[in-house]
Amino acid sequence: MTRRLAAPVGITATGECYPERVVTNDDLSKFMDTNDEWIRTRTGIRERRWAEPGTGASDLGAPALQMALDNRGMKASELDLIIVATVTPDTQFPSTACRIQHKIGATGAFGYDVNAACSGFLYALTTAASMVAGGAVSRVGVVGADIMTSVLNLEDRTTSVLFGDGAGAVIVERVEEGLGILDFHHRVDGSGGEFLHMPAGGSLRPATAETVASKQHCIHQSGSEVFKNAVREMADNSKALMDRNGYTGDQLKLFVPHQANIRIMDAAARRLELDPARMMVNIDRFGNTTAATIPTALHQAMGQGRLEKGDLVALAAFGAGFTWGATLLRWAY
Ligand code: UT7
Repeated sequence: MTRRLAAPVGITATGECYPERVVTNDDLSKFMDTNDEWIRTRTGIRERRWAEPGTGASDLGAPALQMALDNRGMKASELDLIIVATVTPDTQFPSTACRIQHKIGATGAFGYDVNAACSGFLYALTTAASMVAGGAVSRVGVVGADIMTSVLNLEDRTTSVLFGDGAGAVIVERVEEGLGILDFHHRVDGSGGEFLHMPAGGSLRPATAETVASKQHCIHQSGSEVFKNAVREMADNSKALMDRNGYTGDQLKLFVPHQANIRIMDAAARRLELDPARMMVNIDRFGNTTAATIPTALHQAMGQGRLEKGDLVALAAFGAGFTWGATLLRWAY
């Protein structure tokens, strides 16, 4: 058995939170030049949730983490650390982790945000698990939360139909020997930065009236470039991680890919020679929620009775940066 970490560490509870408002493809076609057929066949999305203006990532992240704590039977004050993966923090600073800490009353925790776009949850999970395995902390809340509507340009139909708002959370702690995170493989390649980015609002191009007027605080994406890279890297990386641990697709109970496009997800599943029924899909109902896709998918898989203690699970992501990664685990509870 492989185990990359110094001790067995895994996920011991999950939670999620979405805004109430459901926006269907037909709803979108009422105010932009798009249609249900195009969105469904090109992306797999039927509907998504959109938050009311004024909703911050912590407004969804805090209830998601509280749900994970409740499911674990743990008090917020028992958390040592909160790591929040997000590209849409409530504010540039303080971090969304600080706001979630305050909202749930995690009085013994420190915390910070991780910005790795759609791979953010996987990187935060690895960071949390490594700190637990090394003995620095015992109980970590890892949250993936994004309010993508806060950075959508509704005049750009090529991006605005893809994204939704949401948050998922997990508790990370020591688990039984043989369970938890077995291995991971993460990479970034900054040469792909220009293909998916928010051009302004950082130190390079602070906000001005001109950057706001020209929508430079919104998502800019070269869809086909991102698509090509996502298909290749997510599939190859997941396969390489399986190979180096001596596993084949038929041994996986569940494959949980980042939910950006059903065609990218299907390509990765084919590369793993996986029965499609063993891929977790929630893009149809929630769209691309960036850092929230994987933890919400895990929470829903638990709710649907698709995960049991000891099951082999692979998580995979690809996103802006470019960033990508995969994590292999044995479900711990
Ligand atoms: O999570 C972060 C990572 N992001 C991703 O992984 C996203 C990767 N990219 C994609 O998923 C796909 O590239 C998209 C879904 C964004 C686009 O799909 P595509 O099959 O690559 O379409 P396309 O960009 O090549 O556009 C095809 C046509 C174009 O029309 P023409 O030029 O052929 O006449 C677009 O203008 O579809 C048109 N189009 C639309 N039509 C109706 C683009 N967006 C829409 C729309 N509704 N919303």
